[in-house]
Amino acid sequence: MAEIQAAAAEGSAASPVHDGQPVDASGAGRDVSILFVGDLVGGIGRRTLLESLPVLRERYAPTFVVVNGENVAGGLGITPKIADELIAAGIDAITLGNHTYHRREIYRYLDAQPRIVRPANFLRSQPGRGVCVVERDGVRLGVVNLSGNLYLRAGRSAFTEIEVALGELGAIDHVLVDMHAEATSEKIAMGWHLDGRVTAVVGTHTHVPTADARVLPGGTAYITDVGMTGPRGGVIGVKREQAIESLLTQMPVRFETSDEDPWLMGVLIRCSRPMRAESIEQVLMPRPADASKER
Ligand SMILES: [Fe+2]
Ligand SMILES: [Fe+2]
Repeated sequence: MAEIQAAAAEGSAASPVHDGQPVDASGAGRDVSILFVGDLVGGIGRRTLLESLPVLRERYAPTFVVVNGENVAGGLGITPKIADELIAAGIDAITLGNHTYHRREIYRYLDAQPRIVRPANFLRSQPGRGVCVVERDGVRLGVVNLSGNLYLRAGRSAFTEIEVALGELGAIDHVLVDMHAEATSEKIAMGWHLDGRVTAVVGTHTHVPTADARVLPGGTAYITDVGMTGPRGGVIGVKREQAIESLLTQMPVRFETSDEDPWLMGVLIRCSRPMRAESIEQVLMPRPADASKER
């Protein structure tokens, strides 16, 4: 999640590849799809995801589901219990961001659970890892989490550390990069930097979906921000009265997660060749329980 400040709101089985090169063409031609879901905000975000999953699985039959969970524990951070619940629901991998370490109880879990990643360009001494590889139906997906360096605290450059991260992935069919950043410029630059080398670069952190989803000329799916899975009735997840009070008074205000108008926001990336995307489309839908109430 971006910070709200008093002055302003800041913001196929495809053939396996190694280092971007195919090493075995035995499964070439099978289609793969990746559903990536933006920052889950609080319990309302978690429930919106879990209630939407059956609908999304029926509609899109995604090979992989990856979610950003940096705000899922009461709006800040993630706990082992919540991460376990997401993984038990079939989430293949969880990415994080600047709120990774808000909950102390997650530190050891980050080292032990291979399906959860924190930005790869954090310091090596910080808990957790920045890359993971998950497998489904014989397809191997590498997931890399990065943090922007503008207005966010990340010990090393995303642009140099991505090379190290990609080198750690080994034999894989696809790579998804979650670039968690405040500045649109850094995210767009990372998309171009990795175009043709990874399957997708998806931006997170601002909690607001952008209208620039596209497949870049080299075959990498890109969007500057997928948005959040949480309450649209608040201000990037926070109760709107509290956000407005903070901005009006310039005094400290205790923020709570809004529960108004929850939506799921994400993208679906379809692929028919290794390490390349055919399409990227936004998935923007109200929480199913709320949608049925309105009918
Ligand atoms: Fe976030
Ligand atoms: Fe964030």
